[in-house]
Amino acid sequence: MELGLIGKVALVLGSTAGLGRASAEALAAEGAHVVVVGRRREMVDELVAALPSAAGVVADLTEPGAPQRIAAAAREAFGRVDVLVLNGGGPPPGTADAFDADTAQAAVDLLLKQHVALVTELLPAMREADWGRIVAIGSSGVQQPIPTLTASNVGRAALAAYLKTLAGAVAKDGVTVNMVLPGRIDTDRVAQLDQAAAERTGRTREEARTSSEGTIPAGRYGRPAEFGAVVAFLAGEPAAFVTGEQVRVDGGLVAGY
Ligand SMILES: NC(=O)c1ccc[n+]([C@@H]2O[C@H](COP(=O)([O-])OP(=O)(O)OC[C@H]3O[C@@H](n4cnc5c(N)ncnc54)[C@H](OP(=O)(O)O)[C@@H]3O)[C@@H](O)[C@H]2O)c1
Repeated sequence: MELGLIGKVALVLGSTAGLGRASAEALAAEGAHVVVVGRRREMVDELVAALPSAAGVVADLTEPGAPQRIAAAAREAFGRVDVLVLNGGGPPPGTADAFDADTAQAAVDLLLKQHVALVTELLPAMREADWGRIVAIGSSGVQQPIPTLTASNVGRAALAAYLKTLAGAVAKDGVTVNMVLPGRIDTDRVAQLDQAAAERTGRTREEARTSSEGTIPAGRYGRPAEFGAVVAFLAGEPAAFVTGEQVRVDGGLVAGY
């Protein structure tokens, strides 16, 4: 399938590793120019060098002014942004009985505020061009809250509400807004969560992983490339009539529809 991404400009947040990197690689493989973002300069440089056409921004998304600086750097590199992939680090684990007001504020700052700021920066030009794609990397916890990831459940639900509302507001302007929800994809973040689970329950990380994989109908963790392919599809031309959607990439993990 031709995705129509040749020459498009994709800004992918949190793309030095994991799901963001897999998304950046999938978009680049379809011919997009990619702007790589992350805090680790050596990882930014390494991916920029590996992709056919890319520029890098070393930035901590949580810092004040970071969204504006990232957007400006992307425009300076390629003149515009056609595809915005929202992504970043996840908040620390914690159960709901240990959740408090400060943790709630931190979750919203991390998972909503800076992403809204980036959309605010980039949406006007997308609307003017009558073409744009916003794809947010979320979590299956948006649809089925994960008991040990309260901050993630809360912050991502807020982002989901914003993006669903936004999708309707900009649908006539050629801009689509969607989320891709990972269940358990084999990345550093999931290895850290397995390690935390292992420590909580007195098992090895491998045992924690095996037990976690056992909860997935597909019987395994997903591969980052399987996730990136869905992001690239939603960013492409054939997905022009798909908006306001949440697409799970979870091997059947979420039991509901
Ligand atoms: N993997 C899964 O199965 C899964 C499931 C549910 C939800 N998620 C969520 O999806 C997102 C991506 O997950 P992942 O598994 O790909 O995680 P990961 O392997 O830890 O990668 C996170 C990426 O985000 C970047 N990043 C982290 N904090 C940042 C910050 N403050 N500013 C800029 N960049 C930052 C990291 O790069 P630097 O370190 O270079 O900054 C890295 O490129 C996370 O929010 C995660 O919680 C993942």
